[in-house]
Amino acid sequence: MTAMPPQQPEPNDAERDAGTHRADSRPAESDASAKAAQDVSRLRRVLITGATGEIGGALARAYAETGTTLILTGRKQRKLDAIASDCRKLGAEVECTVLNLCDEETLFTWLDEVCARGVPDIAIANAGMNTDIGPQGNGERWEDSRRLLQTNVIGTLGMAHHLAMAMKQRGSGQLVLLSSLAAWHGLALTPSYSGSKAAVKAYGEGLRSWLKPHGVGVTVVMPGYVTSPMCEAMPGPKPFEMPPEKAARRILKGAARNRARISFPFPLNFGCWWLSVLPAGISQRLLGWFNYTH
Ligand SMILES: NC(=O)c1ccc[n+]([C@@H]2O[C@H](COP(=O)([O-])OP(=O)(O)OC[C@H]3O[C@@H](n4cnc5c(N)ncnc54)[C@H](OP(=O)(O)O)[C@@H]3O)[C@@H](O)[C@H]2O)c1
Repeated sequence: MTAMPPQQPEPNDAERDAGTHRADSRPAESDASAKAAQDVSRLRRVLITGATGEIGGALARAYAETGTTLILTGRKQRKLDAIASDCRKLGAEVECTVLNLCDEETLFTWLDEVCARGVPDIAIANAGMNTDIGPQGNGERWEDSRRLLQTNVIGTLGMAHHLAMAMKQRGSGQLVLLSSLAAWHGLALTPSYSGSKAAVKAYGEGLRSWLKPHGVGVTVVMPGYVTSPMCEAMPGPKPFEMPPEKAARRILKGAARNRARISFPFPLNFGCWWLSVLPAGISQRLLGWFNYTH
């Protein structure tokens, strides 16, 4: 059994409420504080974007334990505070930051600050959004598609790139990128979303091969339907829908093994995978039979 590193001092109430308690915020003025700083550096650092969402929240709780510093972001302060509080009760140190992934300057400044305190050991690019062609099939609004691409592609890949460079320099780390089974074949109801998740999948696969000799692992996650507001809002049938806690457990287990791809649930993954290998004309027809066209 691995010995857990000693816990650092508890944050005070003001820090806790503001979510500003930092694992390494104390200067090493004495032997005791130098030792505390050393202990802190041994804490596992896990960064999760979209922690205010269903899968992100479940991931945060799944990773929360003594010996772990969680670095959580989302856009909703109150929800972030509630998740942080749950995670602290489970023994984790928590750093919270409200930010919008589309604000690249703020994102990169924040990532630099995070890395200055300690490059994350595990970073999960989970935040994302969806849009669809609407109930009448009128088509996506381009401003929605643009925002989606900015969030799911530019923000996600930008963050992955930034952390990849930092992890490569250190020679260790695990990047986990949330794609989707929709990446196997574009869906008529959600064309921008499918495209964005295909981009994340391909980028993650490329990063993995590049970073392997440098001691950094990359895992692409391709979930099917997981219960969340995003899933609820998605049109079309939702076979094999699963709770976020179950999805989080699968992601945690697969990432710990540095799996190249975590795709689930099996029957839906198998079906969607076929769509990507069959001739496109046949795949399009199959999607029609299964009611995935408008
Ligand atoms: N649920 C599914 O069926 C399913 C299936 C396949 C893949 N996925 C992927 O899994 C990930 C999590 O999805 P979920 O189901 O948990 O969705 P969710 O509950 O709607 O959560 C989405 C999260 O992304 C954050 N987010 C969205 N836009 C953002 C932006 N511009 N800047 C910063 N944060 C932003 C949200 O923050 P706020 O709420 O604070 O605004 C929220 O925390 C997504 O990447 C999604 O594509 C989900």
